[in-house]
Amino acid sequence: MKKIIVTGKGGVGKTTIIATLSRLLAREGQRVLVIDCDPSMNLAMSLGISLSDVLPLAENKANIHERLGMDMDDEQEPAHDKIEIDEVLEDYIIETIDGVKLIVMGTIPFGGSGCLCSSIALVKLLIGYITSGSEDNDFVMVDSQAGVEIFGRGLASEFDFTLVITEPMPKAVEVTRHVMKLSRDLGIKKQIVIVNKVEDGTEYEKISRELEFNPDQMYSVRYDKKVIEADKKGLLILDYAPHASVVEDIQSIKKEILEV
Ligand SMILES: Nc1ncnc2c1ncn2[C@@H]1O[C@H](COP(=O)(O)OP(=O)(O)OP(=O)(O)O)[C@@H](O)[C@H]1O
Ligand SMILES: [Mg+2]
Repeated sequence: MKKIIVTGKGGVGKTTIIATLSRLLAREGQRVLVIDCDPSMNLAMSLGISLSDVLPLAENKANIHERLGMDMDDEQEPAHDKIEIDEVLEDYIIETIDGVKLIVMGTIPFGGSGCLCSSIALVKLLIGYITSGSEDNDFVMVDSQAGVEIFGRGLASEFDFTLVITEPMPKAVEVTRHVMKLSRDLGIKKQIVIVNKVEDGTEYEKISRELEFNPDQMYSVRYDKKVIEADKKGLLILDYAPHASVVEDIQSIKKEILEV
């Protein structure tokens, strides 16, 4: 099983790439679970699920915590047996297009209702549970909130590799540099960078020179206005224009990721 955290500056294309990549992997028979850990909850829509059909984890934090029966830092065994926990979790796992499974962390329910720390802690606990000794998934991928916060909360330490999405803009490259450092600090084995919205080869070369240290792998995805057209229609590029350059590029990344 490969555990991947996807992060990067706001708006660089994390959700577009994770939705497309997860579906392409699932079409090849890979069992893929994606977890939307971004409070804007965009991933469900990108996978064709209406938010009204989503039961977010955060709405039932106490129950899930109780089922898993351990404190965040505890090494102790869950209080309930696996079958019982799986039954509870089943309600939160949504089967989406191409067989990709989705769990949504949830959002801040109303202004001033506090931070997301406990929700993120719950996702960390859940990932620990889902991935310990279970062979139910080939890929677990998390779409995280823009920026670096997820690393500060230690959630990222659960992962085998960090997929940092960036774009050819100085601010996005700055975030990439920072995320890669934090990812290394947490001991994540591989840092993979995807430069999205690339309009010519020189942009890609420039970014690889600007990064503080070399990522283990680096790929590019071309800019394609069809992605925005698809977004405006509430569609994913994979359905709107299956042969678009973006899909082609993500196809090649998928092949590489299968090998990592
Ligand atoms: N390769 C691309 N070419 C053109 N536009 C793109 C490309 N990839 C993504 N976009 C556009 O960029 C915008 C942001 O994409 P997306 O929502 O996937 O980013 P994000 O990183 O998940 O954003 P957020 O930080 O808000 O979660 C969308 O309008 C999307 O259509
Ligand atoms: Mg997003």
